[in-house]
Amino acid sequence: MSQSITVSLVSWHDGEPLLRAVRETVFIREQGIPAELEWDGLDEQCRHALVLSGQGEAIGCGRMMSNGHIGRIAVLPKWRKQKVGTAIMEALLDYAFAHDYPQVDVDAQTYAVKFYRGFEFVEEGEVFMDAGLPHIKMQLKFICPLNNRLR
Ligand SMILES: CC(C)(COP(=O)(O)OP(=O)(O)OC[C@H]1O[C@@H](n2cnc3c(N)ncnc32)[C@H](O)[C@@H]1OP(=O)(O)O)[C@@H](O)C(=O)NCCC(=O)NCCS
Repeated sequence: MSQSITVSLVSWHDGEPLLRAVRETVFIREQGIPAELEWDGLDEQCRHALVLSGQGEAIGCGRMMSNGHIGRIAVLPKWRKQKVGTAIMEALLDYAFAHDYPQVDVDAQTYAVKFYRGFEFVEEGEVFMDAGLPHIKMQLKFICPLNNRLR
C-alpha cells in the first residue's frame, strides 16, 4: 500500500457518520442493497472497524456482533486490492481472539470466498440468497488444533 492508513475499533455512537458513508457508497449505491436491509438496527450492538486514509477520509469498515458474527466488510472501490480489507479483518479477528470468542463466522458473498479463505475461514453448508445476492456461511474456529490461531 503506497499511502498510510489507520484502523480503529469504534462504537456505533462514535463512528456512525463515517461508517454510514462507506456502507452507503458500497452496499446501497454500488451493490443495490435496499436501505431498509442495510440499516438493520443491529449496529449499536456491534464493535466496528473503521479505516481512515492518511488524509482522514473514511475508506473501509466492518463490524462484529457479540456472538462472533462478522459482517458489513466494505472498502471503497478505489482503495480495493491494497490490503485495506485485510486490515479490517485483522482488527476484528484480533478483537475476537483477545475476547476469547471460540469462533467467528461470516455470511460471505460468494465472489468474496477467496478473500475470507485467506484468513482460514471455511465454507459451511449451501449457497443461499440474501438481499438478492448469493452468499455462503463461512466459519473460523480459534480452537481447531490445526489452525495456526491455536489458543
Ligand atoms: C471484499 C472486499 C472487502 C475486499 O477488500 P480489499 O481491500 O480489496 O481486499 P484485500 O486487498 O485485503 O485482499 C486480500 C485478498 O483477498 C482476495 N480478494 C480480495 N478481493 C477479491 C475479489 N474481488 N475476488 C476474489 N478474491 C479477492 C485476494 O486473495 C486478495 O489478495 P491479493 O490481492 O494478494 O490477491 C472488497 O472487495 C469490497 O469492499 N467489496 C464490496 C463489498 C463486499 O462485497 N463485501 C463483502 C461482503 S461478504
